[in-house]
Amino acid sequence: MGISSDLIPLSAPVIIPEMLTDLNHRLASGWVSTAGPAVREFEQALEDFVGIGHGIATQSGTAALHVSLVALGLGPGDGIIVPDLTFIATANTVQYIGATPILVDVKASDWQMDLDLLEEYLTHQCHSTDHGLKDSHTGCIVRAVIAVHALGAIGEMNRLQEICQTHELVLIEDAAQSLGSIRDSQSAGTFGEIATLSFNGNKILTTGGGGMVLTNNPELADRVRLLINQAKIPGKSYDHSDVGYNYRMPAINAALGLAQMPYLAEWIQQKRILGQRYRALLEPMGVNFQQLGDSKHSNHWLVTGRFQDPIMVQEALEAASIMARPLWTPLHQQAPYQDFPFITRDRISETIHGEALSLPSSANLSEDQWQRIESSLKRALAFTRSTP
Ligand SMILES: Cc1ncc(COP(=O)(O)O)c(C=O)c1O
Repeated sequence: MGISSDLIPLSAPVIIPEMLTDLNHRLASGWVSTAGPAVREFEQALEDFVGIGHGIATQSGTAALHVSLVALGLGPGDGIIVPDLTFIATANTVQYIGATPILVDVKASDWQMDLDLLEEYLTHQCHSTDHGLKDSHTGCIVRAVIAVHALGAIGEMNRLQEICQTHELVLIEDAAQSLGSIRDSQSAGTFGEIATLSFNGNKILTTGGGGMVLTNNPELADRVRLLINQAKIPGKSYDHSDVGYNYRMPAINAALGLAQMPYLAEWIQQKRILGQRYRALLEPMGVNFQQLGDSKHSNHWLVTGRFQDPIMVQEALEAASIMARPLWTPLHQQAPYQDFPFITRDRISETIHGEALSLPSSANLSEDQWQRIESSLKRALAFTRSTP
């Protein structure tokens, strides 16, 4: 059964007939597995688009993040700081390598990691040792921060870079949602030592499933390339230097990504317009959005507002065949994260989670679809406001 033509999805891929010619041609070449030219061509296309030295394609964003942590030499005994409000994959990769996730609450304004809280934690709950900055409670050595550009918006990365420098922490960017976002003339994925993208089906550019590691550090790039290919020593048949992974992106996925590349800039522009349209409609009705340092910087990957009664709005939209979805349950409330430190003052992630609703944000949303969404939202919100 396909997707009902009436249903307005949350974030659907754009696949158009023009893309299929290129895809068919590549399929006919017989290169469908990890060998062949498509993967490197796709990597180069992303390197150019983002403005980064090295892109290494992987099977998923999760794999990209996992292998990045391994390549950085992080592991058991290390503490890695993660925002409390993110998709769970970010933090799972920390547990894959046996490190300790340290969850830091987010800010009510931009929904990104609260850097005041982070500094307070590093200064008052950690102390310097010969091995590095030690978390006084868990005993782990705090080594890295994973910044997540939640929903496409980029937080105060310049300040975070300074904090990381002061405390000798590695800055990693989970840019899964923020391909094409730019802040202070810098692209998401270029602020840290290493960054990762996702090309999952709901992302702005999709390869079906896939991800990419981005870095300007050639040694780190080589290490990632080795690790994603079972750590097979280049030039040798079956000699392996480490316990590696089968994380390489198949050429068939890269071909789909390549076919989408010519449209990426246009889709980002369409999403920005849509994001602004939602704001213009809903802000006067009391709905709050992430505050953006510069309103044009986000790719508006998934437009999400804070509603007084999000459940009622979701039900009203779904009754009209319009998809809407709550935002991620905060990590500290998820079963696998309850025993890890959660640095907070006002539990902002819980408040945002209780109010947030993501709205249809596909780049190719039609005018008819927009009008259905607009009238359903207007009706639902008029009802919410007239209910005591
Ligand atoms: C913030 C974030 N990190 C990581 C991932 C994982 O990416 P993937 O689904 O490609 O493994 C996602 C995917 O949705 C994500 O949104």
